[in-house]
Amino acid sequence: MIPADALTRLKSARSIAVLTGAGVSAESGVATFRDPDGIWARFSPTELASMDGFMANPQRVLDWYAHRRAVVDAVEPNAGHTALVALERWITQRDGTFTLITQNVDRLHQRAGSRNVLEVHGNLVEDRCSVCEEIHKGEQQLDAAGLPVCTTCGGRLRPNVVWFGEDLPRDVWDASERAARDADVFMSIGTSSVVWPAAGLAHTARSRGAAIIEVNPTSTDLTPDVTWHIPAPSGTALPLIVAALEAA
Ligand code: OAD
Repeated sequence: MIPADALTRLKSARSIAVLTGAGVSAESGVATFRDPDGIWARFSPTELASMDGFMANPQRVLDWYAHRRAVVDAVEPNAGHTALVALERWITQRDGTFTLITQNVDRLHQRAGSRNVLEVHGNLVEDRCSVCEEIHKGEQQLDAAGLPVCTTCGGRLRPNVVWFGEDLPRDVWDASERAARDADVFMSIGTSSVVWPAAGLAHTARSRGAAIIEVNPTSTDLTPDVTWHIPAPSGTALPLIVAALEAA
């Protein structure tokens, strides 16, 4: 299932960058966004993932994110997450570098034990002040309407998740681009590769000579440009890759 050439390229890599998407968490029981039963088939991104939607009905948005937090709190990292922890250990023990760039907001990579994780779309765990941008975790100061507000400036708190039309966190994005530029091997795992700028990272890596490995049961917009497409679930393919590297 894993092309021998892809394993050879990984074995000689000095720098691996990985971009993950919702598909990596699918086997933990977290819904993806664009599969037929996905989140955006059941919920409106305009209402639930935009500043306009938040301004129109903050309570509805906060309730929805509270529900999503409860969903991810109730699940566990899967074999794909665990294999990425082992891949990071494998290359760092060889003095190589490893960067895990994730579009996922569920923190399952960190719970599995991944260390160098860049969250380009934020996370579900934190809130952010919509006025002063301060990050908050768990404080509960409420305004007269019963909505959480910033303990520093009194601005309204919102989930620390990137919404449609918003910029990605600058430092995180700069580090992600650097990792893509420096990678010998770039792995795109469990993402439909339709959301930019994250989808552009594979192209950045490719333009600098990296080999691109895609792990996804289906083809994506990226597939025509990859070096190897492994058409399998990440929870199956990634443990096989790591076992082959560790056995070498
Ligand atoms: P999508 O839902 O767009 O794509 C999920 C991908 O995972 C699809 O290509 C599936 O084929 C694939 N997939 C499903 N099960 C899999 C498995 N077991 N192993 C590997 N792949 C599997 O999710 P993303 O690409 O992550 O943004 O979506 C990107 C962004 O769009 C998200 O971060 C989110 C969303 O709007 C924000 O919330 C800011």
